[in-house]
Amino acid sequence: MSKIQKQTIHGRDGSGTAWLYSDIVKEHFFNPKNLLINGQEENYQADGMGRVGSPACGDEMVIWIKVDKKTEKIKECKWQTFGCGSAIASTSMLSVMVTEKGGMTLEKALKIKPQDIMKRLGGLPVRKIHCSVLGDKALRAAINDYFRSTGQHSRIITEGAKIVDEKLKITDHDIEEAVLEGAKTLVDVQKRLKVGVATPEAIPEIEQLIRFYSEKYYGT
Ligand code: FES
Repeated sequence: MSKIQKQTIHGRDGSGTAWLYSDIVKEHFFNPKNLLINGQEENYQADGMGRVGSPACGDEMVIWIKVDKKTEKIKECKWQTFGCGSAIASTSMLSVMVTEKGGMTLEKALKIKPQDIMKRLGGLPVRKIHCSVLGDKALRAAINDYFRSTGQHSRIITEGAKIVDEKLKITDHDIEEAVLEGAKTLVDVQKRLKVGVATPEAIPEIEQLIRFYSEKYYGT
């Protein structure tokens, strides 16, 4: 690894705290697996494609899958991103997880959580957890696209946004993004969104969502 590579793999947050990456993260960042080389997407015959953007940072992720129609196992999982090193490493690992040992079934792949990816990576800095969510969401979108293109409409899972603060039109997805950006308490979320300030009756639901997403992404 060159001196420059060694230097750039460490980051710092606003407080000056260093972000430390595991050797597995570094390996997947410097040698990404299953990356679709730019320009090859035109000719790649995928069974499903998912494209998502991250509201937390504006980055984008695209995943293509090939599926064995009989066994419903994922045979190939290719991807491209404009995301950061953590997004590259976590999506690279995700693509390995769903294709190793003969491929994962769609049912199992839909149950993968960002924590499962982080466990295999040996962890990620807390401020970078939202980056692993990007690949996870793109995979779900690609599986939904496969269901759509094969006429299995009843299997499509839609995650519609629900408004929790009527005055500010703030949704559960906004709360999810705030938690992914590091908000842990109602006060943290309100600093970002002002949610519930003018609608105190919404606070119990907001607190419940904060607990739900904290458990989902951080296991706390
Ligand atoms: S900061 Fe955007 S994907 Fe990591």
